[in-house]
Amino acid sequence: MHDILPQDSPVWQLLESDFRDLAHQYGYAEIRMPLVEKTELFVRTIGEITDIVEKEMYTFEDLNGDQLTLRPEGTAGCVRACIEHGLIHNQVQRLWYCGPMFRHERPQKGRYRQFFQVGAEAYGMAGPDVDAELILMTARLWKKLGIQGLQLQLNSLGSLEARARYRDILVEYMTAHIEQLDADSQRRLHSNPLRILDSKNPAMQALISEAPQLSDSLDDESAQHFADLLELLDKAGVAYTINPRLVRGLDYYEKTVFEWVSDRLGSQGTVCAGGRYDGLIQHLGGRPVPAAGFAMGMERLLSLMVEDGVQATAFSPHIYLVIAGDGLASQGLALAESLRDWRSGLRVMVSCSGGSFKSQMKRADKSHAALALILGEDEAQCGNIVVKFLRREKPQETISQTALTDYLENIDEIQRKLS
Ligand code: HAM
Repeated sequence: MHDILPQDSPVWQLLESDFRDLAHQYGYAEIRMPLVEKTELFVRTIGEITDIVEKEMYTFEDLNGDQLTLRPEGTAGCVRACIEHGLIHNQVQRLWYCGPMFRHERPQKGRYRQFFQVGAEAYGMAGPDVDAELILMTARLWKKLGIQGLQLQLNSLGSLEARARYRDILVEYMTAHIEQLDADSQRRLHSNPLRILDSKNPAMQALISEAPQLSDSLDDESAQHFADLLELLDKAGVAYTINPRLVRGLDYYEKTVFEWVSDRLGSQGTVCAGGRYDGLIQHLGGRPVPAAGFAMGMERLLSLMVEDGVQATAFSPHIYLVIAGDGLASQGLALAESLRDWRSGLRVMVSCSGGSFKSQMKRADKSHAALALILGEDEAQCGNIVVKFLRREKPQETISQTALTDYLENIDEIQRKLS
């Protein structure tokens, strides 16, 4: 788990605001879910035999004896909230969210125990057009953020029935080669055999590449859905690779699954992942509602943004007010308030708790403000203020406090930043 320090927060804010604007461009409204849900929700949603549920959840018993879990992802809570508040029955819903998720994974570059996701979920739309919309949304975000070189991988998992058929075929094949399976895969053989395809163990790659393919067992409807999606993406000019081994680590998917992958992030290269989960709402007790969505790992995106030189505006003050004299605090605070009243976007930092003139000027400089206003005893008595430019050579000036806003109106550094 990590702290996000002040020098890093501007680029976080940029990603958050760009994602928020993007979501609104596509008509997605924000939903905020609790960080904690009943453990049972994640077990039923993500699947009992998955890495997340088997070994990565932060689960605890609260004072009432309820089993609770820090959310490892957003989809489960989003579906729970939608069912609970009647948001998805007989209606279309487009939602987005942003926030921390928790998984007790082995930490490494790009993999944390608390990490942030932004995600989107679309309910009530069964067609491949909404799958395409979600993908177009993500592609637009990469452009907006200036992230280069991401590759879109796609697959179709078919309907639950088709997957069950494929599962039998796969188990038969793997059982015939059981001596080549590592311990993890042997354990998964009967509980979650599709996940064997996801194994990163080099010793198993030959066996996996020879395995029967899921695409050969697809039901007609899923095959058509997938073909239609590919056509929509082709027409929209979105490049993709079909990856028949893309099965995803969560059980709720069917039909379309996709991931955006970077080769610049080492082993944790997936920056965004999602797909369709038409059966989940009914599985959780709601009426059947088609559903699809994605989530992206913000830390991974941010490291690409920083590598690509994306610049985010730091919110340094426009004005730093130095109070050089005893008993001037209330006049200084009132002056700063009046400036903030004058323009709501104006950022005024006050040098609170005094100190020598020299140390206050040092702080002014460190704040990256464009100008310092200096309120000394003489100025306070005459209703004046000294203006000193911190980022360019210009003699300091003493002006009347009543004329200050007119004066600032003509200062380039302030006006440029306010506009
Ligand atoms: P996921 O593949 O588990 O899917 O996570 C989505 C993204 O979150 C990953 O591609 C990755 O970028 C990021 N991520 C996951 N674990 C970590 C970690 N430990 N540290 C840093 N980043 C991480 C889901 O969570 C689904 N709920 C996505 C979805 C939404 N499907 C449909 N709707």
